Amino acid sequence: MKHLIQISDLSEQEIDELISLADDILQDSARYREALRHKTLATLFFEPSTRTRLSFESAMLELGGNVLGFADPNSSSATKGESVADTIRTVECYADIIAMRHPKEGAPLAASMKSRVPIINAGDGGHHHPTQTLTDLFTIKREKGRLTNLVVGLCGDLKFGRTVHSLVHAMSRYDGITFVLISPEELTLPDYLTEGPLKRDNVRVAATNSLVSTLGELDVLYMTRVQRERFFNEADYVRLKDSYILNRAMLEHAKPDLAILHPLPRVNEIAADVDDDPRALYFRQMFYGKIIRKALLISLMRNYECLK
Ligand code: CP
Repeated sequence: MKHLIQISDLSEQEIDELISLADDILQDSARYREALRHKTLATLFFEPSTRTRLSFESAMLELGGNVLGFADPNSSSATKGESVADTIRTVECYADIIAMRHPKEGAPLAASMKSRVPIINAGDGGHHHPTQTLTDLFTIKREKGRLTNLVVGLCGDLKFGRTVHSLVHAMSRYDGITFVLISPEELTLPDYLTEGPLKRDNVRVAATNSLVSTLGELDVLYMTRVQRERFFNEADYVRLKDSYILNRAMLEHAKPDLAILHPLPRVNEIAADVDDDPRALYFRQMFYGKIIRKALLISLMRNYECLK
């Protein structure tokens, strides 16, 4: 694999190998301090980010590499009308690998078709977010000990949430997964996912609009933010934004070993009184994001050196 555009670019074996490498990095980070010495990562963020961009940059620096790029497209020549293709042709002269976030679905794929160096999709519109999914899988593997035989509740904005879409693609391939889709009617999972990977892989699926009634069945609860930036109409966003607010009292109905995940940022969907509950793993999850991104950077750079 040269680029990572969507999670299905990776086989289950490749995901296992990345998770093993990330485990090793966690155990012995000193061994990887120079792993990408003299290599440069460019982070091109045409959309806001805190975790994805900073974890990529932190990962690269901790691997002995260098970082350049932009966090705000208004500071780039995109504002003068430069195309993504020309931006990539430019940046590949200065960097060995590129992580790119863009509001247009498919922009990282288009970039990968023009790029000599590996492109990592750091989120494209409401489409894919494969490195968040690697983060989620690594978190589940570490905290639950397995990626199979789990009841996974996906709660909130299942329509626009790209982290949910990528996670559905990824986990559908593992044995014994049941998804419980928890959303308001207006924010249900798109048909291309229910008719695509869920049907193809014969995944067990239940759908409900009630979080409380299903909480007790779940091994993993994946909360998501209602994606304000993808709504055409502010009134609809305001009506739907607080559809689900998980609080500590509700957790009385949950399993003692429930894993509560959230890709973050959160708005209101998890009350602050949940944060101290041992089942709240979302802050650990974002730390794991840096580690699995280290594994990905090492792996893509190794492949790229072999392909050159
Ligand atoms: N989870 C995630 O993509 O967070 P950021 O938008 O802060 O990068």
